Amino acid sequence: MKKRENWGSKIGLILAMAGNAIGLGNFWRFPYVAAKNGGGAFMLPYIAALFLLGIPIVLIEWMQGRYGGKHGHGTLGYMIYLQSREKLKPKKAIILGSICGMIVISVTVLLNSYYNHIIGWTLGYSIFSLNGKLMDPGVSTGQFFVNYVTNPSLVFIFWIISLGFLAFAVTRGIQKGIEAWAKIMMPILYIFGFILIIKSLTIGSPVKPEWSALKGLNYLWAPRWAELNWQSTLAACGQIFFTLSIGMGIIQNYASYIKEDDDIVLSALTTLSLNEFAEVILGGTIVIPICYAFLGADGLSQSIGLTFMSLPNIFRVIGAGRFIGFLWFLLLFCAGITSAIAMYNYLVAIIEEDIGFCRKKASLVVFALYIIVGLPVGLEQLVTKDATFIYFTEIDNWVGNYLLVIMGLIEVIVTGWIMKDSFLDEVNRGSYWKVPKWVYNVLIKFITPIVMVTVLIGSTNDYIKQGYFKLIPDFVAETPKLIPWVNGARIVLLLVFIFGFIGTYKSIKNVYGEEIRTNTIKITNTKNS
Ligand code: PHE
Repeated sequence: MKKRENWGSKIGLILAMAGNAIGLGNFWRFPYVAAKNGGGAFMLPYIAALFLLGIPIVLIEWMQGRYGGKHGHGTLGYMIYLQSREKLKPKKAIILGSICGMIVISVTVLLNSYYNHIIGWTLGYSIFSLNGKLMDPGVSTGQFFVNYVTNPSLVFIFWIISLGFLAFAVTRGIQKGIEAWAKIMMPILYIFGFILIIKSLTIGSPVKPEWSALKGLNYLWAPRWAELNWQSTLAACGQIFFTLSIGMGIIQNYASYIKEDDDIVLSALTTLSLNEFAEVILGGTIVIPICYAFLGADGLSQSIGLTFMSLPNIFRVIGAGRFIGFLWFLLLFCAGITSAIAMYNYLVAIIEEDIGFCRKKASLVVFALYIIVGLPVGLEQLVTKDATFIYFTEIDNWVGNYLLVIMGLIEVIVTGWIMKDSFLDEVNRGSYWKVPKWVYNVLIKFITPIVMVTVLIGSTNDYIKQGYFKLIPDFVAETPKLIPWVNGARIVLLLVFIFGFIGTYKSIKNVYGEEIRTNTIKITNTKNS
């Protein structure tokens, strides 16, 4: 078996993992999701979800990844197969492994189909901030956004530059590519973040005395128990999954490059803390107070447009706005790139390990794949001549939300109920801090899965109510010309499912065929030499 690469240093691993988690989710998604769901009413379930779902699942994923790496695998299908075959027997375990492989392939292929476009926008916007085009008072920021996303040269040039950047970084490998870029981009992100926080907190009350930056902080941090509701709870759980990159297979992939006895507990908790700091402290303190001071509480619920339409209005009027805008969009770019690299690498790992291509060739294949799957996201706006994003929304509803929770649930059940090797031995090996027994016996076995099943039932119910399961979902029912975009997204999703399932099944069978044929465990350790 080919020797697998390892991380070069502890700090490199932590920054790369932090880069994986800290993404557009922290700066673009968190502020509007939090604001839309009532600020302080959202933070209550958010914190609960962090402890009940986030921490246990992050520990499980690091454990699964290092375990997979020990057996020469960097992708989830194999990991789940190996961990579940003792109790389930190989013939059933390969089905479970293939389902997981399928979900993770669909997430890594399709989430990035729109994510890479947003990274492209951030690059474009950073340049248009600096050269002042975004600041032209003659064009509203909403119109500017529509002009941008309906202009083929802008959309495609910045998107392809971003994809090229990703391809370049991933081709260079774990240490020279992923680790090296994380070491550059993560410090930049934090430095820019601090500069922007200072600007945001010192903005005062420029519009109305009752709107101020500090009141904005209060909006996020004053707990509002009375407004706590089911909707904000679901949104909070979804945000925890998205921001921590859990249920995506990419933590396992990065963790597979950790040496067999290197600490994972402390590293996992350190990265989780870095992510949460970037999310609630940097993301929360930059966007929410500044928007509150200028727009008040109502202006905050601007959804996706908060970053690309509301904030530029503010950059137009504050001192050094061009430069501040430039820093902000470049920060988003760094955050996005270091996350997208992780998804890119997951697919490269599949091609490298299962098809046997060299890294460079695998990286080119993924580049081509991302161009193909990303085309509809960009083309939709060119066809509709407006910022409609129906294809994007449909894909995001499934791969950016629902499937992550299903994937997380399977991981928790495999770890708590199916895996025979004790979770505690595996996770605590080589660790400085030991995960206590109750985390496994109480949390992972019972509380986490129960909370997840509840969330899943809630989300399903919510999706039914919003008409997402209907042949023609409610959000396009009134505009027939948009229906093909929803159907297109569904067909693509289905194709990726079929391909992902069959591909994973075949790969597992290739390596463990003998076991599966006889339905008995033969290979106990396929460790690298
Ligand atoms: N945690 C990432 C984020 O917050 C999620 C993600 C990872 C999304 C990789 C896309 C690609 O943005």
